[in-house]
Amino acid sequence: MRVTRRVAVGLPIAAAGLGMIGLSLAGLNAAAQTADTIKIGLVLPMTGVQGAVGREVSDAAKLYMAQHGDTVAGKKIELIVRDDSSVPDNAKRLTQELIVNDKVNFLGAGLTPSAMSMAPLATEGKVPTVIMVSGTSVVTERSPYYVRTSFTLGQQSGIIADWAVKNGSKKVVAILSDWAPGAEAGKVFSDHFTKGGGEVLESLKVPLANPDFSPFLQRARDLQPDTLFVFVPAGQAGTFARQFAERGLDKSGIKLIGPGDIVDDDDLPSTGDALVGVITAGIYSAAHPSQINKDYTAAYQKASGHRANFISVGGYDGMNLIYEALKKTNGNTDADAVIGAMKGMTWESPRGTISIDPRTRDIVQNVYIRKVQKVDGQPWAIEFETFPAVKDPLKEAAN
Ligand code: PHB
Repeated sequence: MRVTRRVAVGLPIAAAGLGMIGLSLAGLNAAAQTADTIKIGLVLPMTGVQGAVGREVSDAAKLYMAQHGDTVAGKKIELIVRDDSSVPDNAKRLTQELIVNDKVNFLGAGLTPSAMSMAPLATEGKVPTVIMVSGTSVVTERSPYYVRTSFTLGQQSGIIADWAVKNGSKKVVAILSDWAPGAEAGKVFSDHFTKGGGEVLESLKVPLANPDFSPFLQRARDLQPDTLFVFVPAGQAGTFARQFAERGLDKSGIKLIGPGDIVDDDDLPSTGDALVGVITAGIYSAAHPSQINKDYTAAYQKASGHRANFISVGGYDGMNLIYEALKKTNGNTDADAVIGAMKGMTWESPRGTISIDPRTRDIVQNVYIRKVQKVDGQPWAIEFETFPAVKDPLKEAAN
């Protein structure tokens, strides 16, 4: 009885509350559109276990501004970075504050759980939001004002599965970080691999926070696969590589493959020989042989002290998308005008040519097959095959 009453009373209050927030957010954004300064609020994990991700995106965004100036279409650009410590509730609160107090014109979103929690606010507040990190397919469908410059795990996992089949893999054990992008990596990999005649012996799920890979690596080894398919998110490749080598798996004859995350350029320099020979399908390598990438990696290294990685380009390209959209709208920040300008945009990124799919607002980009090799004493993911203009396969399958 009491529960029923609570629900009955609670619902209208919650609905009224949301309605009020909706009204005020929409009004605020209209006011923000007439200001001379255009504000971009990034909500990123700057601290905690995934803190490297926030550092990489914000360093790249700041580098973009240092290179391209802080004025676009006659308006000054101001970047605001907020730390959600990878906690979705924090991301929601910070987004609300950025919209209501700071009156931001754009948002930048980071990890999948945070991007999911920010979506209703971006929609109600009509704030164009660039997804700079999340690799989960469904995220871009959560708001009509979401546009992605990062990647999806599906984009890479189907391609590496096909490569593995072609190159003799028959029995795979999957080790997957236990959250949405890991589930998608596993699903797309397994669909392709089994279609090609391979068998996935077991999928092992590793907790996202403070992972200890050792027991999973032991279990995987006991199952005697010929190949291990592994997804760990940015920031965990170093720990994974150390435990992989400690268990002797680098010398076991079992092939290690995955999406690009397991050979994250931010961690590679510290992995010694542990990942040498590993084959991945990835969207970016710091070793990508183009002049624009050579310039990018040199400038990023100088500005941040780190090797540029696949997470950083999501921030760098995200800023380019915002700048170029503003040039097209002549400084108009109206969400529908901005999103309209972003749809179909194509440009040359440090990772190669990329574009925004006008139908899905998701990124279309090359996926490269790479092998880790030592060059001048350091491991690099060296590209040897290119799949051009790859779309998110889960969205394509749904249509
Ligand atoms: C995500 O937030 O979906 C994500 C983050 C880091 C990765 C992959 C996916 O390396």
